[in-house]
Amino acid sequence: MGRVGFGVAVGCAVVTCAIAAVLVGRRVQNRRKWRRAVEVLREFEEGCATSIGRLGQVVDAMAVEMHAGLASDGGSKLKMLLTFIDNLPDGNAKGTYYALDLGGTNFRVLRVRLGGKGSMIISHQVEYHPIPQELMSGTSEDLFDYIAMTLKQFVERADDGSEQKADEKKELGFTFSFPVRQMSVSSGILVKWTKGFSVEDAVGKDIAQCLEEAMTKAGLNMQVAALVNDIVGTLALCHYYDKDTVAAVIIGTGTNACYVERTDAIIKCQGLLKNSGGTVVNMEWGNFWSSHLPRTSYDIALDDESPNSNDQGFEKMISGMYLGEITRRVLYRMAQESDIFGDGAYNLSIRFILRTPSMAAMHEDDSPDLREVRRILTETLQVPHVSLRARRLIVRVCDIVTRRAARLAAAGIVGILKKIGRDGSGVASGRAKGTPRRTVVAIEGALYVNYSMFREYLNEAVVEILGEEAAQNVVLRVSEDGSGIGAALLAAAHSSNR
Ligand code: BGC
Repeated sequence: MGRVGFGVAVGCAVVTCAIAAVLVGRRVQNRRKWRRAVEVLREFEEGCATSIGRLGQVVDAMAVEMHAGLASDGGSKLKMLLTFIDNLPDGNAKGTYYALDLGGTNFRVLRVRLGGKGSMIISHQVEYHPIPQELMSGTSEDLFDYIAMTLKQFVERADDGSEQKADEKKELGFTFSFPVRQMSVSSGILVKWTKGFSVEDAVGKDIAQCLEEAMTKAGLNMQVAALVNDIVGTLALCHYYDKDTVAAVIIGTGTNACYVERTDAIIKCQGLLKNSGGTVVNMEWGNFWSSHLPRTSYDIALDDESPNSNDQGFEKMISGMYLGEITRRVLYRMAQESDIFGDGAYNLSIRFILRTPSMAAMHEDDSPDLREVRRILTETLQVPHVSLRARRLIVRVCDIVTRRAARLAAAGIVGILKKIGRDGSGVASGRAKGTPRRTVVAIEGALYVNYSMFREYLNEAVVEILGEEAAQNVVLRVSEDGSGIGAALLAAAHSSNR
């Protein structure tokens, strides 16, 4: 080999070594970044841990807070609102009743025909209408005028004239799914908005009156016979079919629970309630808080940046409005600390861009190459070309978020059962162990009904906390459409025409 040839060979070797060094360096760097992403996941998982011991503490805290909320107004973050509903529908009512269900970005109008004893619900018609975005933060007058006009058009379409005399006032069950301090079964003051609504001038007003004024303006001869929270409608409908129903839970965009409480246990309302039996209490459990809840830095940041910080702490950990957003926050942190999503992860910085249904779809993707995860990353988040192992990491994040939410909701349910002596411990009820009663809890809401992983985690955790034996007496019963039909049933039960 000549000098030139030797030189070329040495040169090539140097270049090869340099390339190899760069490649090795890059691989080491990649490995380090990957490890960082895994580290973010691990820390998050630790922060979200819901051991059985911790769930037990949440159960106890829920029961304690319920007592405190019943003792005095402001005694707990749990508002424990009185509903004035002491007779749940029994199936005897007859006639045509309407319902209006307002609680999210859509509202529903319903017409329900009841046949009286034996025939139950003969038929029901329902229509869905979106609420224009600007009305969610405008004035109460604009919001209720729009709703009343839509309701009037529905009544005109649905009413065939066969059921009621033209001049007879129609009766409405108004489901209003925000915290309301009721003055009677058909009136109540809005305490605050949740779930992204902010029609500020409505806070402090009687919501039923706002609607009745708008209905009169619209020329609609109708009155609010019952003003109810969606959770109370859920309880009413499930109880209509199954008399062992004692509590209800909603886990959808927002979350809430209610149950039948002994009147004498509602210390803050002594003298106000006439009946001696039970009354439905709207817990507003979305606002439950306890230091035992496993809260991470992501939850804290989400809360700080929300329009209602320090409020609805439980809801922000377990409901559909927030699970996608918690997931996005963790993925964004991974994107910042590693390059597993490549350079184009800008969209991950956009708040609420990942909605819970998309998160659930990624979580439930059982294709071997996680095709659905890739599709959502590409189409919704505009993050293409994410490796399979990084997609697997994303599924793990979804799993951690969902599992924590479902297990905490389960602990909340058992907390209620404990308070009313239906958790099998036989303490609160004074009953001896060994005389169990069948206990039905109605459940509604897309998270539980449509998201099977969530449902499985919740069901499993209820059994884990209660123990196999006690869990045999507890039935979680899906009650669809309670917020609509249940409200019409309550209107019938409290009708002035009755
Ligand atoms: C509201 C409750 C409602 C629940 C479910 C929560 O944000 O505060 O009143 O029942 O959402 O719709």
